[in-house]
Amino acid sequence: MDKYFNNIEKVGGELELPGDKSISHRAVMFSSLAEGKSKIFNLSDGEDVLSTRNCFKQMGINVESKGNFIEITGKGFKNFTRPSGFLNAGNSGTTARLISGILAAQNFESELIGDESLSKRPMKRIITPLTAMNGKIKASEDYTLPLHFYPSEEIIGINYELPVASAQVKSAVLLAGLHSEQITSVIEKLPSRDHTEKMLGLKTRFNESGKITFVSKDDYPVPKTYFIPSDISTAAFFIILSLLVKNSSLTVKNVSLNPTRTGILDVLKDMGARIEKGSIKEMNGEVFGDLTIHYSKLHNIKIEEKIIPNIIDEIPILSAASVFADGKFEIERVSELRAKETDRINAICHNMRLLGLDVEEKKDGFCISGKVKNNTPVFESFGDHRIAMSFGILSLLLKDGGKVNNFDCAAISNPDFLGQLSKISV
Ligand code: S3P
Repeated sequence: MDKYFNNIEKVGGELELPGDKSISHRAVMFSSLAEGKSKIFNLSDGEDVLSTRNCFKQMGINVESKGNFIEITGKGFKNFTRPSGFLNAGNSGTTARLISGILAAQNFESELIGDESLSKRPMKRIITPLTAMNGKIKASEDYTLPLHFYPSEEIIGINYELPVASAQVKSAVLLAGLHSEQITSVIEKLPSRDHTEKMLGLKTRFNESGKITFVSKDDYPVPKTYFIPSDISTAAFFIILSLLVKNSSLTVKNVSLNPTRTGILDVLKDMGARIEKGSIKEMNGEVFGDLTIHYSKLHNIKIEEKIIPNIIDEIPILSAASVFADGKFEIERVSELRAKETDRINAICHNMRLLGLDVEEKKDGFCISGKVKNNTPVFESFGDHRIAMSFGILSLLLKDGGKVNNFDCAAISNPDFLGQLSKISV
């Protein structure tokens, strides 16, 4: 479906959003591993988390919707049943990479597939450490899906320094590490999102090489009740819209405020945003609270390298905001964006050129400046949910609106994006 967005006049009211995607994947996985019943409130209703649910159902896990929560009956240590067919991670990199850590430790064979986009994404980054842990994995020649897992003997604990800042790779290693008597440690120079460590209650330490996280079988999950806070990456679209539409003021309820995810708020604050935080609540190691956003005059700033892992999913919407902020938008050292659901550097630059802006595409970043010259663009989503929603928001801010091709892919993280938008348009 192609979607046309009219210019929006004002944003207001209150918004409740579905649960954080990263936390939701982990809640489903940890509940499936744990022996007994777990309850999950406000689980993400996106297609990605559905892929994770389906993979575990195929391994004999009972996942039941009970009105306002999901009940998962986990099987306990190495008690999954062998899946009868392929496990399909769909479009979800988090499903594929995290479940690989679990599959590498099981005593049965399995095969993991994904959609066209996921089948192009790099998997060597998880195959290398999982093989060092004694996992038996076969991939295609270019280290992409499908991945074939052979029955594992004993998982061996390793000390692993992450070559890329990636919470998915870190989590794959930690999940495999849960299946070993030996201690596994993961070192990261630039800390990535820490939901796995927080939700499992893992020990962490900082030293001169960065952050070290430790895991062993002693940390194996037990059944729990989870409340998943609203996804800050989903909220970011509405936060930026409210900042840029005159006279707007919006409250987003119970947003995840995990410090490894709130980089977007810090960057926006430095750009001149007026955002108030309500009182902070906590559950299962995860903090959250309400955010109230007021219309603000924004200016572009230089984005520091150390904050990049913390804002990696928000760069598309941040670049959309930059078009309406004073000055030039410049970002470097974000080559990881080329390995997301689509090559996001290329996708952003392509769409910005359609507006007649000055765009410089670099190997590991890009630069946007100038004034909008074409006011009736037809943007391309490239089948990437964050690109679709970013250019949907940008269209709402154009005098004559704009169109986004193949907007349906927004459902990968937020199926009700359009419903939420109409609720806050006043
Ligand atoms: C995620 C980690 C990030 C992020 C993705 C979700 C996670 O990916 O982009 O949307 O839940 O661990 P990388 O680990 O590849 O940076």
